[in-house]
Amino acid sequence: MPSKIAADTLAINGGQQALPEVEGTGPGKIGVEEFMELADAWGYSEKAKAAIRSAIASEPDTAPLLSRYYNPRPSKVQALEEMAAAMFDIPYVLAVNSGTSALNTAYVAAGIGPGCEVIVPAYTFFATVAEVVTARAIPVIADIDESLTLDPEDVARKITPRTRAIVPVHMIGTCADMKPLLELARRHNLVVIEDAAQACGATYMGKRLGTLGDMGCFSISSYKITGGGEAGLVMTRDHHLHIRAQNNHDTGACWRPDRYAVEQEEGELFAGYNYKLSELEGAVNLAQLRKMPDQVARWQKAKRRIAGQLGRFAGVTPQQVRDPGEVGYNLIYFAPDAASAQATADALSAEGIGAGTRGGKTARDWHIYAYWQHILERKSATPDGCPWTCEKNAGLGQNYSPDMCPRALDLLGRAVFIAVNQWWTEGDCDRIASGVNKVLGAFFERESDRTGWPPAV
Ligand SMILES: Cc1ncc(COP(=O)(O)O)c(C=O)c1O
Repeated sequence: MPSKIAADTLAINGGQQALPEVEGTGPGKIGVEEFMELADAWGYSEKAKAAIRSAIASEPDTAPLLSRYYNPRPSKVQALEEMAAAMFDIPYVLAVNSGTSALNTAYVAAGIGPGCEVIVPAYTFFATVAEVVTARAIPVIADIDESLTLDPEDVARKITPRTRAIVPVHMIGTCADMKPLLELARRHNLVVIEDAAQACGATYMGKRLGTLGDMGCFSISSYKITGGGEAGLVMTRDHHLHIRAQNNHDTGACWRPDRYAVEQEEGELFAGYNYKLSELEGAVNLAQLRKMPDQVARWQKAKRRIAGQLGRFAGVTPQQVRDPGEVGYNLIYFAPDAASAQATADALSAEGIGAGTRGGKTARDWHIYAYWQHILERKSATPDGCPWTCEKNAGLGQNYSPDMCPRALDLLGRAVFIAVNQWWTEGDCDRIASGVNKVLGAFFERESDRTGWPPAV
């Protein structure tokens, strides 16, 4: 006969458990309702929503958390990183929740902070510059050339003993002049952080943009040629930069094999942010990135076909394209002045060819340095004026003025942008080329029988 166990015997000593089971159970945290909200956000019909509801309801409850960690299935964010690493032929890729957080993460990982100058172009989305300031360093604005990307000669003029990094931005799918920029960086021992937010998939001398410098940053948000929702990527070949980037993007350090382990490499642990990408965005961007090579090939084919048929006209300068590996989602030329830029853009649009101008100093635009009021007026988030007033930043290149990069203002003031559609047929491309020739021929004298704009020539 088993001896009777007293009711107050602790379970740990062989007594009865106080709570052998619970009666209350419920569905997983995220279920049908969350997916229905998404279907609603996408404007699905009631019929489609009913079909989705019944399809999901018949699935086993897998309780997805939509975060990278603690999910029953392999992570989509991790799959995105692995696919990007293979596609870009680079060992380390970190997915983050925006292009802006990618830039902040790369800057912090590279050790940019008080006492550092970082050279950025006069033409870029403001995030490239803003994140230098959030890293508490000082942005130095360099002019651009006829590629609409950093002018290496102006960069060379702006390097000082306090320069720590150069940030080439591959604007509108076009490659910055990486060869001289990398040479300058090597000579002066500077870090190169590429902002490839607008050029996902483009190549320069056979290598994907974002993999030529020390670190590459991408936005893969809905507004970019590849991407959906809000997301970004940080790439590097350097393990130490990668683990510092990981730390910055997830200060809780879930990414570590042992989350609570002590520091393995000096500089690995510091107070960072939470820039993790959700599984939802990871899944969408995994599908997006898979489509990227075909998208880029279609854009390149369309732009090259059009560019190959365009004539040369007195006073009209095609954008400089250094490498045919650019993405090619815009065809750009510089008219002799702002008035003729606008007039030709209007005439092109009237022909059915969507064209626009950027405005130089005539319209507020966060892509053009002259409107970066936060920088020109050295705005600070805190009353102490940090980082501008920080002792370590004293004497650094902070003397900004709206006229400091005259070439950027001149070029952007007379640039005409024709958006290229990846789905245009050969016939569409031919009609567009003849439409551009028609309009430019009506405004300007044809220079010669020479045809072909870069990258077709
Ligand atoms: C050149 C450039 N850098 C950075 C960013 C910032 O990316 P996100 O909007 O994903 O933060 C953008 C977005 O427009 C961009 O065009």
